[in-house]
Amino acid sequence: MIELGRFQIDLEMRTLQRNGETVPLGSRAFDILAAVASADGRLVTKDELMTIVWPDTIVEENNIQVHLSALRKVLGQDRDLILTVPGRGYQLRQRRKNVLSDEAGVRASGVRASGSQALRARRLPPPKSGLLGRDLAVRQIRALLEQTHVLTLVGAGGIGKTSVAVEAAHHSSADFEEPVCFVELAQLTTEEAVLRAIVERCGLSVHDPQVDVEQVVAALARQCRLLVLDNAEHVIGIMAHIVEALVAGNDALRVLVTSREPLRIMPETVFRVEPLDVPPPHSTDADILRCSAVNLFLRHANSLQGKVASDSTELQLVGEICRRLDGIPLAIELAAARVVALGVEGVHRRLDDRMAILAGGYRTALPRHQTLRATFDWSFAILDQNARSLFRRLAVFGDAFTFEAMCAVVCDEAYTVANAIGSIGELVAKSLVGVEFEGPVAKYRLSESTRAYAMAKLQAEGEQDDIAARHARYLPARRQSAA
Ligand SMILES: Nc1ncnc2c1ncn2[C@@H]1O[C@H](COP(=O)(O)OP(=O)(O)O)[C@@H](O)[C@H]1O
Ligand SMILES: [Mg+2]
Repeated sequence: MIELGRFQIDLEMRTLQRNGETVPLGSRAFDILAAVASADGRLVTKDELMTIVWPDTIVEENNIQVHLSALRKVLGQDRDLILTVPGRGYQLRQRRKNVLSDEAGVRASGVRASGSQALRARRLPPPKSGLLGRDLAVRQIRALLEQTHVLTLVGAGGIGKTSVAVEAAHHSSADFEEPVCFVELAQLTTEEAVLRAIVERCGLSVHDPQVDVEQVVAALARQCRLLVLDNAEHVIGIMAHIVEALVAGNDALRVLVTSREPLRIMPETVFRVEPLDVPPPHSTDADILRCSAVNLFLRHANSLQGKVASDSTELQLVGEICRRLDGIPLAIELAAARVVALGVEGVHRRLDDRMAILAGGYRTALPRHQTLRATFDWSFAILDQNARSLFRRLAVFGDAFTFEAMCAVVCDEAYTVANAIGSIGELVAKSLVGVEFEGPVAKYRLSESTRAYAMAKLQAEGEQDDIAARHARYLPARRQSAA
């Protein structure tokens, strides 16, 4: 219960009372009041309110105003309790008084904060309905979170890291005393911004205008909490430093990170998110239908188009599309969306031009999830010059290749073997190049989509003929030396 002037807010029962009498208030208006009152004087940004009040839908910003004015009407002469900070958000003008089941009081007594249950789930995006093929991964992640302080879900863009992290966090939330705190990092670029976001999302009290990591460590001290840090790859160095400090200061804290690249810190366990399963060539219809990638394609295409893959020929094509898209859910969703205009056969036939056809994702998705090219642009943008050179040159390899083959084709006076050693490590770490082992020998491979993107870069750089010629020269030389 939170007391606010003449009003009492019961978070558990979701009621507002004035001097003991219930005052009717719409559900959205209540959510806004609860969010601002729970923040206890801290500014609640518009974005934060939107996520709390409309966790499942994207709505226009003016919806906040509509419900806020309904709320202010109910508050009557106390309407000024909620202050509008123009362009930024909303704030409680007067500090709340905490009564009995208040979150902080409960926390101090070491008991789970039951009054915050409603807000507990809302800090986390809603679980995705119909997440396919991830039951085992979710169980493994939950189990790993019991043993390790920092768990990083690593994989290529669009492979499903965020989806599986959200699902696992929902499953794990009961294992923690405090609400799960979910921080989306994609828009943040500085340490200060990241720390501020953690403070805001966790509802911590840090009053200094300049937040530093020690303050956040102190504010999180002893909290038994799961912190989900989503999309860390573009601020990986900053995150490594912050996460290491946070877990060093709190043994009960668990941090679940999603990133295309590991943090590379001591307390980290890396969990590779695998692609959805795809049918091998010549699978039967029944086997194709058992694959999660195929089910995702069919579900998405059917929701847009009606009946897709109603016969065996079409189903076989769907199986091949999913395989050639390497089981990456984002690419599969984009391909399925194209069925409306091109049909299954048309999508299949144009897969060689996938950068052009795999566009037009959800309007509400992150910009880098709206086209396949944008997903790769996001990864490419954070490579250094050497890694970019290597990456585009690797486009000439249609199959798995060894380090030796790679050096023979990509190295020259300007691009040395030492450069190649550093850069291949970086590309593997950033989930752009896969590595597999044949006994002691490492072999590298680009997925078909990655290769298509790298080829476009090679062409744009005007290097295609030169690198293709070196590749062609290497092959016979290799055959002769093997003979
Ligand atoms: N297992 C899955 N089942 C159904 N859809 C999925 C699955 N995994 C991912 N998706 C969908 O694929 C897209 C990309 O997933 P996301 O989790 O954002 O990937 P990442 O975080 O690795 O970039 C999203 O639209 C998501 O809803
Ligand atoms: Mg993500």
